[in-house]
Amino acid sequence: MNQQTILVTGGAGYIGSHACIELLQAGFNVVVVDNLCNSKTEALSRVQQITDKTLTFYQHDIRDKAALADIFAKEAISSVMHFAGLKAVGESCEKPALYYHNNVYGTLVLTEVMAEANVKQLVFSSSATVYGECGCTQYAENFPLGPINPYGRSKAMVEDILRDLSAADTINQAKSPWKIALLRYFNPIGAHESGLIGEDPNGIPNNLLPYIAQVAIGKLTQLSVFGNDYPTPDGTGIRDYIHVVDLVKGHIKAIATLEGDAFGPGGCKAYNLGTGRGYSVLEIIDTFQKVTGQAINYKIAPRRAGDLAECFANPELALKELDWQAEKNLADMVADTWNWQTKNPQGYMQ
Ligand code: NAD
Ligand code: UD1
Repeated sequence: MNQQTILVTGGAGYIGSHACIELLQAGFNVVVVDNLCNSKTEALSRVQQITDKTLTFYQHDIRDKAALADIFAKEAISSVMHFAGLKAVGESCEKPALYYHNNVYGTLVLTEVMAEANVKQLVFSSSATVYGECGCTQYAENFPLGPINPYGRSKAMVEDILRDLSAADTINQAKSPWKIALLRYFNPIGAHESGLIGEDPNGIPNNLLPYIAQVAIGKLTQLSVFGNDYPTPDGTGIRDYIHVVDLVKGHIKAIATLEGDAFGPGGCKAYNLGTGRGYSVLEIIDTFQKVTGQAINYKIAPRRAGDLAECFANPELALKELDWQAEKNLADMVADTWNWQTKNPQGYMQ
């Protein structure tokens, strides 16, 4: 039985709560810190219900250095999974300072406290949105970065900071150097198979799958398909959708890799977490209709500003170095999204 303790920042959120399940089921102790700015404690209650195990929860903002240091003093933390952050692209354009303060300054505080506690293993939630336009469709980790909005830039800035912290260890000949995995997620969708936890967006969803699910259940009347004139086979945008449970399994593999000999004494490396397979918006609608039997009312609308035609992962590095690959298919992702949506039409607000 693995008795290591993992601190999960943002553990009450969509991806963090799924990570808590995988960690508890793998035998880790779990400590969550979350300020609940985009989540509810009900998610953590359900994590404990699903796993029949308990976790420790602290309601704090990660920018509160004293509160964070107190957690490290009380708990024997060995690694951190850092999910806490704000993630809405549109909001980040309206309130860039909020995004930089929360995502960038928050990570600075976290890494300061970690260094002071001599806990230097970190798995960071990055995003495929850090990549720049490269005239290609399949992205590998060594491609140039060039995010186009404040949210994406906040992720790229954190990546830079973490690479610099790791590089400084070499200069300073640090005795216990940083070991950091930057996990670049493509498009996480789906939910735990129990249907007890899932994505619970505030207000009208921005992302495709939650929007479709709310149209199917009758909360929204019609989906707008943003553009059917892209240079793709059916003209609609293509993305690499990945099941959230596959995604969090990649985090457990990342922790094991950081601790293994192959990673070396220290370092900071980026890994794509995607399936390597893209689906168009119309393919998603078609699969949703087939899997759920629900007709989706949609119309073709103008392109959304900032959208790429096509974007999917080259997932080879994660397979080679993390021993991880996605296992669930699109029908699984859609079925689990629908299971969560039908069991929780109002999200966690029952
Ligand atoms: P989420 O909003 O559901 O979860 C984030 C959690 O962090 C929430 O529970 C929120 O309350 C908490 N939080 C935010 N700021 C905090 C702070 N300062 N202190 C303490 N807690 C704070 O989002 P998610 O979808 O679970 O995403 C998790 C991470 O993955 C985020 O960093 C996000 O940017 C990144 N990411 C998400 C996606 C996606 O499509 N969901 C894609 C790529 C990357
Ligand atoms: C969006 C974010 C990205 C973030 C990702 C998280 C933007 C511009 N980008 O990416 O930074 O990392 O979510 O998963 O917001 N679509 C519709 N109608 C809708 C919603 C979406 O047609 O109502 C289309 C989009 O044009 C796109 C596809 O569906 O082709 C997927 O969209 P979405 O789920 O928002 O993800 P991304 O655009 O990849």
